[in-house]
Amino acid sequence: MKCIRTEIIGCGHYLPSKELTNDDLSKMVDTNDEWISTRTGIRSRHIVTEGELTSDMAMHAVEMAMQASKVTAEDLDLVVVATLTPDNTTPSVSAKIAGRLGVKVGTPAFDIGAACSGFVYAMTMVDNMIRLGQIKTAAVIGVESLSKITDWTDRNTCVLFGDGAGAVIVRASDGEGLSTDTGVLATKIYADGTQYENLYTTGGVSATQSPGYIRMNGKEVFKFAVGAMSEACQEVMHQANITAEEVDWLLPHQANVRIIAGVGQKLGVPTEKVIVTVDHHGNTSAASIPLALSESVASGKIKKGDMILIPAMGAGFTWGGMLIRY
Ligand code: UT7
Repeated sequence: MKCIRTEIIGCGHYLPSKELTNDDLSKMVDTNDEWISTRTGIRSRHIVTEGELTSDMAMHAVEMAMQASKVTAEDLDLVVVATLTPDNTTPSVSAKIAGRLGVKVGTPAFDIGAACSGFVYAMTMVDNMIRLGQIKTAAVIGVESLSKITDWTDRNTCVLFGDGAGAVIVRASDGEGLSTDTGVLATKIYADGTQYENLYTTGGVSATQSPGYIRMNGKEVFKFAVGAMSEACQEVMHQANITAEEVDWLLPHQANVRIIAGVGQKLGVPTEKVIVTVDHHGNTSAASIPLALSESVASGKIKKGDMILIPAMGAGFTWGGMLIRY
């Protein structure tokens, strides 16, 4: 049956120039490269330079995506940013991006706060708006300056996170309602607020008038992440009537290589089809998926027509899955 699909027509990404290796971290806290790389798979991460803002990274990523898709600011009907580290408490990062890009006055712009699931949440909202015919073309950005809410004296958390941005331009296209269509084929988002205290920041606007630092119950997050992301994948594959064998790439939120491997194993997706960037990005929360997507497209790994299965999980807890034919 004829339908409207949300097609990704261009990707972009940005990483700050400053790189922080495991050896650098071992000079800051009681840790070492061996522990970090075997427990997490992370070897280095990028950190914003002095004065570099979340919106600056987002601009780099979205401009690259617009260039790749040959879309101008005039063409955009919506700007959405997934982030938990905005420049200011208000207005949104998306409003700043809309202003800096010079989109038509009146074009809606909003941020989504769903932590590491932010990009999947954002794409779900945008896909629904496109399928309802409310908009045709949108910029969807995931961006984080997690270094600003990292406690650099806490070895349990400071080895895990990084900064960066990824962006996609999406556009309404015609589909047949089949899994052979190009674009978003299925999405599903979830939350469980009873897990609020397993992954949180020690502060916030109303609680402490400062953003606080990330804290987590790593083991609980780990266990939950593998099960939740696998189930979200099963759900979207079921919705689109797809089997794991038909998936070209499993592109999970990049938190820990062991979580990623666990999801791959549960789904029966072989290692060579699993995209891993956590080794050189660390966990960049809402940025991790569009960053990994754009890097994989730029390197020629992901090609037009590939089926990509995308699960995410983060604070809230929030989680979700998305199936896209690129
Ligand atoms: O995006 C979603 C958000 N986050 C995640 O998905 C992360 C989920 N969790 C994880 O990735 C893992 O649980 C961690 C990487 C955070 C921790 O790995 P683990 O295998 O669960 O280690 P652990 O917390 O059980 O710690 C084992 C030991 C502890 O020492 P004792 O108590 O056994 O003596 C820690 O104190 O490792 C110690 N430790 C460290 N040692 C060296 C903790 N952090 C470090 C460190 N360097 N950086």
